[in-house]
Amino acid sequence: IPSNTKSVRFYVQTKEPGVNYLIDDGELTQVQTLSQFASDANKGIDHNRKANLKISLSGSSYPSGIKVEIQQTRSEFGWGSAVNVNYIHDSSHKRYQDFFYDIFEWAVLENALKWPFLEYSKGNFQPGNAMNAINSMRVKGIKVRGHNIFWGGSDVVPSWQKSMSGSEFKPLLEKHMSDMAKTFRAKFQHWDVENENLHLHFYEDKLRDPHITEWMFREMHRIDPPTQRYLNDYSIVDGGQSTMAYVDQGMRFKSAGVPVSGMGIQSHLVGDIDISAIKRRLDEVAKVGYPIWITELDISQGDNHKKAQYYEDVMRLYFSHPAVKGVMFWGFWDGKHWRPQAALANGNNVTPNEAGKRVQQLLKHTWRTNESHNISHGQTVSIRAFKGSYKLLVHHNGKVIHTENFSLGQAGNTLKVNLSGSGSNPHVDNVLIG
Ligand SMILES: *[C@@H]1O[C@H](CO)[C@@H](O)[C@H](O)[C@H]1NC(C)=O
Ligand SMILES: *[C@@H]1O[C@H](CO)[C@@H](O)[C@H](O)[C@H]1NC(C)=O
Ligand SMILES: *[C@@H]1O[C@H](CO)[C@@H](O)[C@H](O)[C@H]1NC(C)=O
Ligand SMILES: *[C@@H]1O[C@H](CO)[C@@H](O)[C@H](O)[C@H]1NC(C)=O
Repeated sequence: IPSNTKSVRFYVQTKEPGVNYLIDDGELTQVQTLSQFASDANKGIDHNRKANLKISLSGSSYPSGIKVEIQQTRSEFGWGSAVNVNYIHDSSHKRYQDFFYDIFEWAVLENALKWPFLEYSKGNFQPGNAMNAINSMRVKGIKVRGHNIFWGGSDVVPSWQKSMSGSEFKPLLEKHMSDMAKTFRAKFQHWDVENENLHLHFYEDKLRDPHITEWMFREMHRIDPPTQRYLNDYSIVDGGQSTMAYVDQGMRFKSAGVPVSGMGIQSHLVGDIDISAIKRRLDEVAKVGYPIWITELDISQGDNHKKAQYYEDVMRLYFSHPAVKGVMFWGFWDGKHWRPQAALANGNNVTPNEAGKRVQQLLKHTWRTNESHNISHGQTVSIRAFKGSYKLLVHHNGKVIHTENFSLGQAGNTLKVNLSGSGSNPHVDNVLIG
């Protein structure tokens, strides 16, 4: 044990809570510092996030001097943020909305879906605010995570539930799942079914049922099969207190056939971060075998320069990791952030700070494909490009003579662009005749 160690924490889970255990022997292995983190992560990014694209021209006649341009319109990997329902919907907050839509393709409502917000008084279910925000984002192509159905902390459940008796709960929980599924049908990609369940067990206690969360997952699977169901918890990579407990929960749910679609890792980081430790903890959770979303990323750090570097490092780690499918920031603007020091933008103009500029650079340029190539008949242009959705534009003499959409997934893609077809673009025939 390193000499400067101040405390050691063990996690032990047993099936028989009445049995006491004494620790007899233990061994600590120090997590090795990653010596070439960035270059290794970049290899992972190339391997996991990119695929091969080949473009050639087909058909019989071609003008010379053709240029093909590909513009990535969407990333396969999910990048998103928590939003405030009023700020994202109300037209008076244009700068907030501009910052969001410029870089993000996924959203989660920070608070508005939580049960006390939807049903402040019993029986008075009011989804209107949440729905307005969800609809205004969805028409712009934003995908949304549903956060959350249940949050079983005794200080975060609706206050009217605290005095209710155990026997009243099962029908109540059933009705809430049904309300949520009916009201928000087909609006969300994911549900966070029972938030922070590793730490909180209000409903388990009320019902005297340690398996009530498994039941919630099964019920949501039954009443809303297409929407994926996520666990979501903290102290998994932000500190290691609950890492192995989460692994254990994931393994137990998996072997019991609970319909879990993936594991959410919150990632609320503070101060100085240790990328080697974060990677090690992430690797442990990945061993369970479920897809992972980083659901609530923020880094509270007063030094702007450090903050920018830390955001870049953790984004690079998460983006490179084969198990991680998406990253949600937990807010971006200091005017609406639970930890303003973690914000990417400040003040009334929502001005990006150093970290915000870094995030914009990574998401709009570094990890996005946008290229042009001259191409002639018989030639194949080969591009290693980020997976996602694309628009192809064919240029000739400064004019766009043909466009089409395509997607690039794991298998790659081979585009044979036929410029002799008529119909889709009236310029084509002119070019060929001319
Ligand atoms: C592409 O072709 C144009 C002329 O049509 C030329 O000016 C340019 O240098 C070419 N670009 C490359 C990379 O070959
Ligand atoms: C894509 O590249 C073109 C130049 O080829 C540039 O004008 C445009 O701003 C780029 N778009 C993005 C999102 O980087
Ligand atoms: C191509 O994709 C864009 C969205 O990026 C969409 O607006 C457009 O309708 C698509 N075009 C075709 C022909 O599918
Ligand atoms: C290209 O399009 C033309 C017109 O639609 C069609 O006659 C021709 O067979 C196509 N060629 C190829 C290689 O697909």
